[in-house]
Amino acid sequence: MYLEVTNLKKSYGTGEGRQEVLKGVSMGMEQGSTASIIGSSGCGKSTLLNCIGALEVIDGGDIQIDGKSLAGLGKRARGEFRRNHIGYIFQFFNLLPDLTVRDNIRVSERLTDHPMEYGALLDQLGLAGIEKKYPNQLSGGQQQRVAIARALVKNPRLLLCDEPTGALDSATAKDTLMLLEKINAAYGTTILMVTHNQVIPQMMRRNFVMKDGLIIEDRVNEHPVPAADLEGL
Ligand SMILES: Nc1ncnc2c1ncn2[C@@H]1O[C@H](COP(=O)(O)OP(=O)(O)O)[C@@H](O)[C@H]1O
Ligand SMILES: [Mg+2]
Repeated sequence: MYLEVTNLKKSYGTGEGRQEVLKGVSMGMEQGSTASIIGSSGCGKSTLLNCIGALEVIDGGDIQIDGKSLAGLGKRARGEFRRNHIGYIFQFFNLLPDLTVRDNIRVSERLTDHPMEYGALLDQLGLAGIEKKYPNQLSGGQQQRVAIARALVKNPRLLLCDEPTGALDSATAKDTLMLLEKINAAYGTTILMVTHNQVIPQMMRRNFVMKDGLIIEDRVNEHPVPAADLEGL
């Protein structure tokens, strides 16, 4: 198993205000596969993704990625792990507003020893014509493509996506999902996506359903629908 989460626990706050958000989550993914985490708002999806992405310290259980355990890693080790293994994309893109497209991507490229070839990536994502623009000169779909390029230039084995199409219209959402599908096929990047969209899970190999800090269902999708054929996004 490429990703293996075992009895993961995570709380926020202390004393009376302490809230257990992840109550013993177990799940896993094969290398090169795709999966979604679905469930209603507040059930802990982003927290789970942030734990897997080594953004959060975990309180109990373990997360293994490519045989490496995240439990007990200090801040520095988590940062290094993240730089070398994880790509992240978010609903609101999180691009640096004062940097051009090129520099947004290049900043990320410098964080790793094994970057993807910049020119090839630009072509693959259709960004060659907008390299010198700033984020506020781009459409939402273009900004998300830049964010995807920024995540991918590090050549991550695991791409974590938190509601990546949540701020996009349905046509642009479909383009973005087709791009992620292409990336999975071309580079074998393992993709784990949090979504509360009802349709997106159809394109994923596996769907984890969360409720109140637990995974209550783990469905294998024998026949994922190609992103281009998703209806009602
Ligand atoms: N950094 C944080 N500090 C305190 N509480 C948090 C923090 N992040 C999330 N929570 C709480 O954890 C619960 C789950 O949040 P989240 O993982 O964002 O849910 P989802 O992504 O499924 O909507 C919520 O009640 C939220 O308020
Ligand atoms: Mg969330």
